Amino acid sequence: MELVRFGIIGLGNIGNSHVNRFLEGKIPGAKLVAVCDNNPAALERYADIRGWTDSAALIRSGEVDAVLIATPHNLHVPIGIDALENGLHVLCEKPLAVHKADCQRLLAAHTNPELVFGIMFDTRTEPRYQKVREMILGGELGRIRRINWILTNWFRSNAYYASSSWRATWAGEGGGILVNQLPHDLDLFQWIFGLPRRVRAFCPLGKYHPIEVEDEVNALLEFEDGTTAVLVGSTGEAPGTDRREIVGDLGRLVIHTDHLHWTRNLVPTDEHCRTTKEGFVSPETEEIVIPIEGQAGRHTEVICRFVEAIREGKPLVARAEEGLASAELANAILLSSEEDRTVDLPLDAEAFSACLERLCATSRFSPGDASPVATPAPNMNASFN
Ligand SMILES: NC(=O)c1ccc[n+]([C@@H]2O[C@H](COP(=O)([O-])OP(=O)(O)OC[C@H]3O[C@@H](n4cnc5c(N)ncnc54)[C@H](O)[C@@H]3O)[C@@H](O)[C@H]2O)c1
Repeated sequence: MELVRFGIIGLGNIGNSHVNRFLEGKIPGAKLVAVCDNNPAALERYADIRGWTDSAALIRSGEVDAVLIATPHNLHVPIGIDALENGLHVLCEKPLAVHKADCQRLLAAHTNPELVFGIMFDTRTEPRYQKVREMILGGELGRIRRINWILTNWFRSNAYYASSSWRATWAGEGGGILVNQLPHDLDLFQWIFGLPRRVRAFCPLGKYHPIEVEDEVNALLEFEDGTTAVLVGSTGEAPGTDRREIVGDLGRLVIHTDHLHWTRNLVPTDEHCRTTKEGFVSPETEEIVIPIEGQAGRHTEVICRFVEAIREGKPLVARAEEGLASAELANAILLSSEEDRTVDLPLDAEAFSACLERLCATSRFSPGDASPVATPAPNMNASFN
């Protein structure tokens, strides 16, 4: 294939930033030939690129080889299925879908192995998380005992929530922080540790903002082997915290922006616990600072690797199938909170769909509502913490 002919569907906050990556020449091997938004005003910014207001027409136009879907989450599934069934490569923004059953429907449409189907998990390109994953999978921390995954630095204002009518509504978005801000963190969590076997959570709805969905998450997770985790997120707290801490028998690893800090036990905790004659003394430790070098390629790298996967068969940053686990974890957390009970994984997709349906029945958003585009395109840099 010569150049991959790209279309971007959805020209809001993130869609516009993706368009700019192409216009700035950051995506070799591809050409942006189409933009699509059901709001015609959104197309006016790009007079030199063919604009479409109907994704179905774009998908059937024969003018594109691949589409990047950057619409509200609920549209990832119908537009993704339409594109795959019409022979296009698809790169889908996170989350893959709002709930597990929808993820499964979308993934089931990927029947042609020649079509590349990826998901925008750009945080996986951060060298610090790649290093942590390598260390955990390589057993460097010994048996993992407990994990803190505290992400309360996702602050959003009321103005943010008012910027699009679908946002932070059950019927329009399908949830709050769990489906919008936390999917990256849930993905990193499951990418490194896998999925727990059960979840108990408390997710207050509209605690900080006049919204109908959850803006805070407090979840306890338990894995098959007894490892436990605390997962906390908030869009209302300031100053927020990003504290990711992993405790294994060989010490504690804390993830910082430019380094990892490993307080390494000279004797594994379990062995020390069994053998020491002292009642109050922890194992001796040494402090190890692991510098993190290199820059994250973020969204640009995900798109470039998608193009390379199409042209040269190289691996993606994240395959679409990998989007199922974070959606499942998000669903389990919300279901636990809403039904005030412990939820087992694998999640009963039907139970969650029924719960979401009940919540949607209370929603102030009606699917016919327009989704206005913020003009000019907002600066999203503060979002990528
Ligand atoms: N990977 C990341 O870092 C990241 C960052 C932000 C958003 N996102 C994801 O991107 C998606 C969009 O988020 P956003 O903040 O840009 O939303 P947004 O509301 O700013 O933009 C959505 C756009 O889609 C358009 N749209 C709605 N229905 C459409 C349709 N039927 N056909 C074509 N266009 C349609 C809207 O008019 C709007 O311009 C979400 O799924 C979100 O989770 C990912």
